[in-house]
Amino acid sequence: MFFIIFASMEKREVVLSGIRPTGHLHLGNYFGAVKNFVKMQDTNDCYFFIADYHSLTTHPHPDNLQGNVRQVLIEYLAAGLDPEKATLYLQSDIPETAELYLFLNMNAYLGELERVTTFKEKARKQPNNVNAGLLTYPTLMAADIIIQKAAKVPVGKDQEQNLEMTRTYARRFNKMYNTDFFPVPKAFNFGEALVKIPGLDGSGKMGKSEGEGNAIFLNDDPKVIRKKIMRAVTDSGPTEKNQPKPEPIENLFTLLKVVSKPEVVAYFDEKYNDCSIRYGDLKKQLAEDVIAFTTPFAEKIKALDASDDYILKVMNMGAEKARANAQKTMREVREIIGFRKIY
Ligand code: TYM
Repeated sequence: MFFIIFASMEKREVVLSGIRPTGHLHLGNYFGAVKNFVKMQDTNDCYFFIADYHSLTTHPHPDNLQGNVRQVLIEYLAAGLDPEKATLYLQSDIPETAELYLFLNMNAYLGELERVTTFKEKARKQPNNVNAGLLTYPTLMAADIIIQKAAKVPVGKDQEQNLEMTRTYARRFNKMYNTDFFPVPKAFNFGEALVKIPGLDGSGKMGKSEGEGNAIFLNDDPKVIRKKIMRAVTDSGPTEKNQPKPEPIENLFTLLKVVSKPEVVAYFDEKYNDCSIRYGDLKKQLAEDVIAFTTPFAEKIKALDASDDYILKVMNMGAEKARANAQKTMREVREIIGFRKIY
């Protein structure tokens, strides 16, 4: 008699997130998102993609689009993502996403889409290009997430509202068709508040398009990093002991907290609180700690840049797995909606 022993295979939670290919990754992308991607890849069924459909809202030139997609993939790998552990892919390799986006748009309303903060900000920044893709950005994001039936979405603070919209659209679909087909996913940061890394210009967040000198990129040259940090906005210094830090100073401390040792942060905190701080010293220390942090990335980025075959292999591997999963979801979605079964 033969006994067949099945290894008990625990079902791992699906984790998904993406980044637009609009330039090099910066410290905000890393500490808000990619750091958690790397942490989660060992224990979850992870899908990390490059949101090239989303980047079309700003009408990139085809050559730039391809180059930027390749660059983000290289930077994912340089940051420690492993294609054997996580599924790494391009959004446009999963055209089923566009079909789900269409279905979700039928139940997405103008009023709620117009109220999204990122839409309002972008409409203000690019008044001559307020296109429908910009308005329906959250439904495309919802399609990305629920097509893989993700439960957790590691993102930075700026994506919190988009994730709320995804939850709304998943619930709305389930309610409309009286099903529990789509899990309702959560923005995730290991139980902590979502991260917002500030820029160097005194206010707001670090961003790819926030102006010259605002962001530090993982592949920045040490000289460039020193220059950007030395030029960061400060003020004339504290005048009273233990006074609260104004935003530009708080921002420098936030950066220090993510790249420097706790004793370094404590040292400058004490200096601030007893009014003996010299911002030049703080900036020099911050610059050296940022450089120590980014140098290994910059080196890996350079090495991967010469590995065309490998990059292509990673893209194809990821596309195959992510697409098969998405196709399965869409076969069921079509049936739920009431379309003719074609296969
Ligand atoms: P994108 O490309 O703007 O940003 C990618 C990730 O980086 C995080 N991030 C930050 N986190 C902290 N501080 C900052 N200064 C900072 N700047 C950026 C973002 O929160 C994000 O996690 N809409 C997404 C791309 C996307 C997506 C998705 C994400 C498309 N579909 C589905 C998750 C799930 C975006 O614009 O990312």
